[in-house]
Amino acid sequence: MITLKAITKYFNRGSINEVLSLDNINLDVEPGDFVAIIGSNGAGKSTLLNCVAGSHLLDSGKILLNHTEITVWPEHKRAKFMGRVFQDPLLGTCSTLSIEQNLALAKKRGQPRGLGIGVKNRDRDLFREKLKVLGLGLENRLQDKVGLLSGGQRQALTMIMATMIHPEVLLLDEHTAALDPKTAHQIIDLTNKIIHELKLTTLMVTHNMKQALEFGNRLIMLNMGRIIMDVRGQEKKNLTVQDLLAGFYKVQGEAFSSDKMLLVNP
Ligand SMILES: Nc1ncnc2c1ncn2[C@@H]1O[C@H](COP(=O)(O)OP(=O)(O)O)[C@@H](O)[C@H]1O
Ligand SMILES: [Mg+2]
Repeated sequence: MITLKAITKYFNRGSINEVLSLDNINLDVEPGDFVAIIGSNGAGKSTLLNCVAGSHLLDSGKILLNHTEITVWPEHKRAKFMGRVFQDPLLGTCSTLSIEQNLALAKKRGQPRGLGIGVKNRDRDLFREKLKVLGLGLENRLQDKVGLLSGGQRQALTMIMATMIHPEVLLLDEHTAALDPKTAHQIIDLTNKIIHELKLTTLMVTHNMKQALEFGNRLIMLNMGRIIMDVRGQEKKNLTVQDLLAGFYKVQGEAFSSDKMLLVNP
């Protein structure tokens, strides 16, 4: 589980460009929670995930992972416990390496990698088994370079890589936003399946309200670095797009209209 205690993050602190990106956030993410995080551009969603992953250090507050304080742990030390998928399919995989080499790297997450990327036959069986679930035929293309794959195929592969070693927390940052609608559906369904099968604790940022309503047992709305809505269970199931729009409107008023289309569209 992840506990955030009064976390605050500034960018360019003390300059005229100062931004308070996270403003005293408190959050308890329970084991197995699948949290959809929604909020308009610049709300602090990516900063929140980056702070959990250790890409940014906090200005104040504490982060605990399974009751152990990790606030000052560097990113590489946290990587052992976290799986991440970003918006850009190019970020999660290495295009000049083969599918099996990428998977072999993922299997070594958090361990010293040494030189070369050896792939054992035993690993190949595991990789084929994992890839078969995707239904994309990638299990027959282990030696193909990842650069040959489409964005959707790469994102599917990244999901497998991010969850190859059971992560304590899975961090998804608009991981379907760069894909066409059909592929985005496939990837979100795959995501949902993996999360439920492995019972993963997940923070999923999405720009898409329908996605946030459909997936996850909990929904958090961020605005200007603050949590302005946190619902779970049946209360979440009862939520509608109208409720979310009302939530945004309450804090942003007329300024919200420019963001609205972006959020409602699939
Ligand atoms: N590396 C950075 N340097 C300066 N400002 C940043 C940086 N990252 C994010 N910000 C600012 O912090 C705020 C929150 O950004 P972000 O977390 O990326 O929002 P979101 O993901 O919700 O769109 C924005 O005002 C953004 O401009
Ligand atoms: Mg973002």
